Amino acid sequence: MNIGIDKINFYVPKYYVDMAKLAGARHVDPNKFLIGIGQTEMAVSPVNQDIVSMGANATKDIITEEDKKNIGMVIVATESAIDNAKAAAVQVHNLLGIQPFARCFEMKEACYAATPAIQIAKDYLAQRPNEKVLVIASDTARYGINSGGEPTQGAGAVAMIISHEPSILKLNDDAVAYTEDVYDFWRPTGYKYPLVAGALSKDAYIKSFQESWNEYARRQDKSLADFESLCFHVPFTKMGQKALDSIIDYADDITQKRLKSSYQDAVYYNRYVGNIYTGSLYLSLISLLETRDLKEGQTIGLFSYGSGSVGEFFSATLVDGFKNHLDIESHQSLLNNRIEVSVDDYESFFERFDNLEFNHELEQSAEDKDIFYLKEINDNIRKYHIAK
Ligand code: COA
Repeated sequence: MNIGIDKINFYVPKYYVDMAKLAGARHVDPNKFLIGIGQTEMAVSPVNQDIVSMGANATKDIITEEDKKNIGMVIVATESAIDNAKAAAVQVHNLLGIQPFARCFEMKEACYAATPAIQIAKDYLAQRPNEKVLVIASDTARYGINSGGEPTQGAGAVAMIISHEPSILKLNDDAVAYTEDVYDFWRPTGYKYPLVAGALSKDAYIKSFQESWNEYARRQDKSLADFESLCFHVPFTKMGQKALDSIIDYADDITQKRLKSSYQDAVYYNRYVGNIYTGSLYLSLISLLETRDLKEGQTIGLFSYGSGSVGEFFSATLVDGFKNHLDIESHQSLLNNRIEVSVDDYESFFERFDNLEFNHELEQSAEDKDIFYLKEINDNIRKYHIAK
């Protein structure tokens, strides 16, 4: 059955901090952040952008009136939920005006949740030829000021419309998931920031990748040469690189060269955004599609990872005419027109976010135009508006 990604888009907040300047403020050699971690800029979330508004912003420019009538399910994948009970998908469904007879829910497994959301969408659509599913990955990655994880923060959302006869990528029936109970990164209820075992999290990621990939290769009788490119979950660009390096020697020279160079294209956007948790793999996919000269019929391997942990390797094949359905210009303009904030300003943005409890009246900033933003929290009820 031909089911896959019909439309894909991302939204990132319009502020960023320069990683060399952040390193300076933390008395760290800038090359640790720029080369060792592999990040150049980091998206900074203003107080009026949360997972709901970012998710709606990622979707609003790709969803048509026809899509709104045909979407039967909305799934928001997140690990920075704003509510322990109410699903962000319900609020996004309302903001976007999707038809009311839809199933809406939120999914969690650290940075992995958008991947099972896509697989659930694929299974759901197999029984429903006329419907579509909206999958959103939306997160604000926060570890705390001056914490070990600080250089691997970020914020943003990716929206995907999954449908029959997709315009961009067909999802193949080959996914292999690998689960292992490990405490590498977790956030107990009530904690503002996650607890992280940094070195363990890197090892657990690589182990999960190797287990998923080896089992995938065994079941599908595939080798690295079968893939034009590989995309990884990108908490920071060096992480996927480490995973790729851990198996690259099994490939022939031509494949090695291709996979190494395409990895750089696949993390180009991530390098300037930072970690967006659930959306990171899919931001990397957009980066690959928009910065590399790919061809119809080529197959891309994708590795999704969520600490805790679940990994999954699956593949997708580029469909005829996919290039006509990318929006390179607006994505590059979104990234290029962001505003740099000083480290001091980033810290005050960060603290304001933490102190947002209830009954705050939030201002629309002068730069906000045609985007959803959090207007107020009244008795713990969040209200969103479109900035004019
Ligand atoms: N120039 C170049 N590279 C440098 C450097 C310098 N001056 N100083 C350090 N580095 C390199 C280190 O060698 C290391 O590279 P390696 O991993 O290839 O050995 C890298 O920079 C990071 O250094 P490290 O000492 O591991 O940093 P850290 O203890 O500050 O932790 C993280 C880094 C990513 C573990 C930490 O930011 C974190 O916990 N992040 C959140 C969790 C996460 O994202 N985990 C990923 C899996 S989901």
